[in-house]
Amino acid sequence: MDNLVEIRNLRVAFDGVPVLHGIDLDVAPGEALGLVGESGCGKSVTWLAALGLLPGKATVSGSVRLQGQDLATAPRRTLERVRGGRIAMIFQDPSSALNPVIRVGQQIIEALRLHRGLTGAAARAEALRLMDLVGIPDARNRFSLYTHEFSGGQAQRLMIAMALAGEPDLLIADEPTTALDATIQAQILDLLVTLRREMSMATVFISHDLAAVAQVCERVCVMYAGKIIEEGHVGQLFETPRHPYTRGLFDAIPTLSGPLRRLVPIPGTVPDPRELPPGCAFAPRCNRARAFCSQHRPELLPQPEGRQLACAFPVPITQDIVHRQEEYQ
Ligand SMILES: Nc1ncnc2c1ncn2[C@@H]1O[C@H](COP(=O)(O)OP(=O)(O)O)[C@@H](O)[C@H]1O
Ligand SMILES: [Mg+2]
Repeated sequence: MDNLVEIRNLRVAFDGVPVLHGIDLDVAPGEALGLVGESGCGKSVTWLAALGLLPGKATVSGSVRLQGQDLATAPRRTLERVRGGRIAMIFQDPSSALNPVIRVGQQIIEALRLHRGLTGAAARAEALRLMDLVGIPDARNRFSLYTHEFSGGQAQRLMIAMALAGEPDLLIADEPTTALDATIQAQILDLLVTLRREMSMATVFISHDLAAVAQVCERVCVMYAGKIIEEGHVGQLFETPRHPYTRGLFDAIPTLSGPLRRLVPIPGTVPDPRELPPGCAFAPRCNRARAFCSQHRPELLPQPEGRQLACAFPVPITQDIVHRQEEYQ
């Protein structure tokens, strides 16, 4: 099957400081891909760069193909049609996507006109259907309200309705639930799962929250300091995380089911891109690092068990399984 999106050797620098160091990433039609990593790892910049949304001071190189069409060299008009049309993006903060002085129904109608050429009664009916679809109760009566008259969770739903207006092939959800409380967050994640299934649309779910990623995604890319350091199916990464960073992310999340275990945060912080350590960028925080690691930058390489991994001394699979079993006794 041909990929929907193919990103190759994507590099970004701000004022000459590299923050993305060559990202290779594919998204298949209809798949749900997670992108995880601590804040500042380059998750948002990857997709902002892919869609031509970074400020002018950013230097971007590499290629981004949408079903064979190169977006990096596409004229601005083409990119504008792709954004919101074939690829839609939702963010943590709905206010970035919703206009406070235009009634919500009208905003969705405008998106429908722009991306699908719908007007009049057809546009209104479709806007109502979308509000219904994302779970806005009593959409007919709330069509003419303003964003501030909706709760945070509902504003998030409205932003999703706006994103769906263009019937995108790919929805990029960048930390869409980070600002919401746990119950509402779970509802929005459920909504994303349902929508993807019903609309056969691919989803890229960006989050620092591994548990949320597991709920929504089939495949996960773990990013650290502007690189992908581990990639695989969600079950595989959960059962046997092999990069010490992935492992560290798991050890730092509480489990709702299963026995209580001690949370072990990863020591230290994500390095400043201006002071990236030589060799493996994670080495200074890594409990498995040896002298070799601070001199050699590991490549992301395919592994026999089907994942990709960038680590010279990964967590052995067997040892990890034993460790997990101990945990569940
Ligand atoms: N507009 C910008 N100008 C300068 N640096 C930026 C800008 N946007 C992001 N960065 C830097 O790029 C790196 C990656 O950021 P980002 O992709 O936003 O991280 P994430 O989404 O993983 O939290 C960070 O070091 C961040 O400070
Ligand atoms: Mg981000």
